[in-house]
Amino acid sequence: MAEQFACLNPTNRRNPIGHHKKPSAKAETRTVRPSLRLEGEITLPGDKSISHRAVILNSLAKGEAEISNFGPGKDCMATVRCLRALGVRIDSRASQDPPSLLISGAGEDGLKEPASVLNAQDSATTMRLLGGLLSGRPFLSIITGDVSLRSRPMDRLIEPLRLMGADICGRGGDSFAPLVIKGRELRGIDFTLPMPSAQIKSAILLAGLFARSNTLLRQPTPSRDHTERLLRLMGADLEIQGNLVSLLPLSSSLAPVSLRVPGDISSAAYFLVAGAIHPNARIVIRDCGINPTRTGIIDVLLAMGARLKIDNERLEAGEPLADIVIESSELHGVEVGGDIIPRLIDEIPVLAVAACVARGKTVIRDAGELRVKESDRIATVSSELSRLGARIEPLPDGMVIYGGRPLSGTEVSSHFDHRLAMTLAVAALVSRGETTIKHAQAAQVSYPAFWQHMQQALSVDNS
Ligand code: S3P
Repeated sequence: MAEQFACLNPTNRRNPIGHHKKPSAKAETRTVRPSLRLEGEITLPGDKSISHRAVILNSLAKGEAEISNFGPGKDCMATVRCLRALGVRIDSRASQDPPSLLISGAGEDGLKEPASVLNAQDSATTMRLLGGLLSGRPFLSIITGDVSLRSRPMDRLIEPLRLMGADICGRGGDSFAPLVIKGRELRGIDFTLPMPSAQIKSAILLAGLFARSNTLLRQPTPSRDHTERLLRLMGADLEIQGNLVSLLPLSSSLAPVSLRVPGDISSAAYFLVAGAIHPNARIVIRDCGINPTRTGIIDVLLAMGARLKIDNERLEAGEPLADIVIESSELHGVEVGGDIIPRLIDEIPVLAVAACVARGKTVIRDAGELRVKESDRIATVSSELSRLGARIEPLPDGMVIYGGRPLSGTEVSSHFDHRLAMTLAVAALVSRGETTIKHAQAAQVSYPAFWQHMQQALSVDNS
């Protein structure tokens, strides 16, 4: 965060974000009060999805690469730890701000059998991408995760990998992690993805790199394409034609690519919505990724009437980025569904807050995938925002939100879901009185500095 704003003294009685640490870190609670102004200039943490891919693919490359602005959240660090356990040398350059990673890739044969179980913690991207990669490496791997990740569907990963010849199985009749993988030589597949999942697409592409024949993936709708962009930059023979992705097995090692990871648009979303719904706001977001497979939140906010401007567009390491300015707006309800959903799936919780404040009704459909994220986000978003006074009807694949009702602070819970913790903080900024968010530490999964950045964007004049 650029130091253009006075940071509020955390001990100030008028501090709009209080911090109560209960004896167990698991019970961390944050109290948020509305503020008169919301203003600031924010530089976001590195994009989580790009960070995972940058460290995984550079670990397979031959040579050194430096990744700056690497996603600092727990999810990306879980990937780093797993890769280290697989024998990859990854040094952290703490002297840099934000710290960067130096990866000494030894090529695909540099990966070694891990001495113990790999732990993806809460990160489905870690588990699924490494699940694909390790299926084609000649050793045994076992990948587990936290209680939440162990209840998320893994059959969608296991089924296509088995079609490629993988020896992979999971708990509960191959539905869940832990996953046990006896790596072996794979064959390419011609596969139609049953859902627009970038994690499954990427897992198959990682497996396909080392398969003995070509891989063809047919997507129902294009999902985020960071794996494809980076693979091409590193020399893989990969083509994209509309919804089709075709990949040839590697004929030589990937070339390392150093990069600065663009700011995470999924993290920007909290400030975009906060700026749009707050009556007295102007926020500038610097160096934010605007890959078109991720910008659904911008499209929907514009359709709702947001005063949002994109400046200084450019391309770095194959990924587009820009500065975004958001100002207080008069929003109205919209219908959201169809092909845009994969382009904003992670932003739907905070979009629901925008819809609560907007004039009229918002309908979100075709988003059943929300039910299998870090929490059942249709259920948790509906129940927690309703506690604040919102009127939301959950649907099997989305929700109907009746906007314009005043919100009032009360006690709410993140359900240990990072996106819900941050979503509730945004709702609290426009709720009357005080909102107490239980398990607020969940934000660390993707955005450890979230509370500090939010604090800095709140005006000192908060009486
Ligand atoms: C991600 C893909 C999406 C997204 C997740 C990150 C990725 O999940 O929700 O937060 O980095 O590939 P799905 O692949 O399950 O749609």
